[in-house]
Amino acid sequence: MVTVKSDGPKCGEAMGDLGVIDKGYVVIENGLILDVNLGEGTEYIDSDTYVIDAEGRVVMPGFVDSHTHLVHYGSRENELELKLKGVGYVDILKMGGGILSTVRATRKASFDELYNKAKKSLDLMLQWGTTTVEAKSGYGLNFEDEVKCLKVAKALEHPVEIVSTYLGAHAIPEEFKGNVDGYINLMINEIMPYIKKEGLADNVDAFCEDGFFNLDETKKVLEAAKKLGFGLKLHADEIVPMGGAELAANLGAVSAEHLVAVSDEGIDAMKEAGVIPVLLPGTSFYLRLKKYAPAREMIKKGLAVAVASDYNPGTCPTESLQSVMVFASLGMGLTPQEVISAVTINAAYAIGRGNEIGSIEKGKKADILIMNAPNENYLIYHFGINHVDMVIKNGKIVVRDGKIIN
Ligand code: NIG
Ligand code: FE
Repeated sequence: MVTVKSDGPKCGEAMGDLGVIDKGYVVIENGLILDVNLGEGTEYIDSDTYVIDAEGRVVMPGFVDSHTHLVHYGSRENELELKLKGVGYVDILKMGGGILSTVRATRKASFDELYNKAKKSLDLMLQWGTTTVEAKSGYGLNFEDEVKCLKVAKALEHPVEIVSTYLGAHAIPEEFKGNVDGYINLMINEIMPYIKKEGLADNVDAFCEDGFFNLDETKKVLEAAKKLGFGLKLHADEIVPMGGAELAANLGAVSAEHLVAVSDEGIDAMKEAGVIPVLLPGTSFYLRLKKYAPAREMIKKGLAVAVASDYNPGTCPTESLQSVMVFASLGMGLTPQEVISAVTINAAYAIGRGNEIGSIEKGKKADILIMNAPNENYLIYHFGINHVDMVIKNGKIVVRDGKIIN
């Protein structure tokens, strides 16, 4: 059993230690973990006990996908040909495609259409072992449609738990072209206070990138968010080094995400301030960047690296965190053990839930996977398939034999 036991985020070398219990048991009561230990736990078994035998397979914490753009409408397979011809991400946006084409589709979509699409994605995530997900808005961009998307995330009745983030600063909407300040004022004065009042999001995020929001603009948005009491996250240094990691550190952000182009100073600043780097290797692959975030360097410097899917319709259209775990290992050079820490305990801390989920420990929520794999290396080695046999969420079996049960 892979417990991923830890007193806090797993930093640096500690990411390689998964607290494995060879031949152990875990006791679940009222949705929580009551005990976990070596042996068979026979003292806990009576005639009412439901016993599951994992039969020597990997038992591990449910995956926490700490960076997704869950609620959106439409798809962008039309961009594939352009991408193969070498047209860059920012250039596709300038041609009216990219994020803004998803914004047009999302604005047109009804609440129910968005709800049903997101629910299908959550079903897939659950089947593939994700039990908690962070969901960013950012495809509505105006008051009405951002609120619509955040309300969809809040309304979703699903075993997968959602932690919401407002990402209004994802792109400059067409109606504010040439007037970034006007859009920033709308976010600061109207949208964010409303979202806070209605409890529609825990965090605020911004896309700090050349052609999107510059460092000063990002700072303005995040400082206002901080004043309102939101947790801070940041799409930082994805394509061009902008000083996003340093800004995240200065503002006391919970996490800085992407970081493919982060500077050495940025890494040091995150370490100093305890910012969690959330790395998205599926996106490097899908954008054909030929470059991954410097994960090994971060681990060497003692950071607590998290890995997430970045599920979105443009740069990483997959709900499968297991697939992205393969890129984390073979692309960024993490060991399977480090990858598992990155998608469980460290991911839980990246969304402010480290005390509740992310490991199999006494008192935590019983979010547990049984994988069709004899050891954790096998999860990376045999790639492109779904290893999940059983998913237990809040103590309840929700996936059995790889299928969702009600
Ligand atoms: O995280 N980087 C910005 N946002 C998304 C992509 C959004 C899109 O292309 O639709 C990301 O990669
Ligand atoms: Fe993203």
